[in-house]
Amino acid sequence: MPFLIVLTLIATAASIVEAAAQSVHSSRPQQLEICLTCHGEDGNSRTPMIPSIAGQPQFFITNQLIYMREGVRPTPSMTPFVEQLKDSEIEELGRAISALEPASSEELPDLSLVARGQVLAEQMRCASCHLPSFHGQEQMPRLSGQRIDYMVQAMRAYRDSQRPGADPMMSNVVVGLSDAEIEALAHYAASKKPN
Ligand code: HEC
Ligand code: HEC
Repeated sequence: MPFLIVLTLIATAASIVEAAAQSVHSSRPQQLEICLTCHGEDGNSRTPMIPSIAGQPQFFITNQLIYMREGVRPTPSMTPFVEQLKDSEIEELGRAISALEPASSEELPDLSLVARGQVLAEQMRCASCHLPSFHGQEQMPRLSGQRIDYMVQAMRAYRDSQRPGADPMMSNVVVGLSDAEIEALAHYAASKKPN
């Protein structure tokens, strides 16, 4: 993500932290508003390289937030927002975020890449973990509705051992894939219906 966008998002999020500190009642966890300044107002991101979080399995979200808080998955742009979270707040955030309605991003999947990705996904049995709908389950994230640019970046990071704290279940899958194959898989995953 370009550095300036990150700075602007952090500044916006910081001003919301102050506002949230003053607000008394809210049906959603207070911190969620801060999170949604980056992850999209409904949890579906419109910013390149920032993942959508709406409708992710609750277990996946709580796991990742704990990894981020403990520095197992260091995510510099998110550190200020997760380092102080209590376990109970992480639980609440996981519940609220998994209940948000997932939607596809504005990126249009390329149909020839989708076709190539489908063949690969069947050979590689992505559905055995991420479910045939790609809606995810347990610690395995939803891929349908996820941003293409983010999924490409994530799979390259697993392949190149650049995602600290990565689950080997996933890193083992992408060993030896080319950039073109990763691109095709991301387009296929994004072509699946989020609902
Ligand atoms: C300043 C922008 C920003 C803010 C604020 C922010 N995030 Fe993030 N978040 C990111 C970025 C960027 C990533 C992707 C990190 C990576 O993969 O390197 C991410 C990743 C995540 C992930 C992992 C998603 C996945 O598919 O792997 C979860 C869950 C998450 N954020 C939840 C939250 C929650 C909950 C909050 C509020 C407490 C929050 N974020 C606040 C930018 C932000
Ligand atoms: C053996 C189970 C398994 C298989 C098979 C599998 N995955 Fe995964 N995948 C996971 C797990 C677990 C994670 C979360 C990893 C973590 O915590 O770092 C994950 C994460 C991902 C992510 C990161 C998403 C995010 O939001 O951060 C992408 C993209 C992904 N998988 C795509 C695929 C594709 C495409 C295939 C098939 C080529 C596939 N996976 C096959 C288990 C699997």
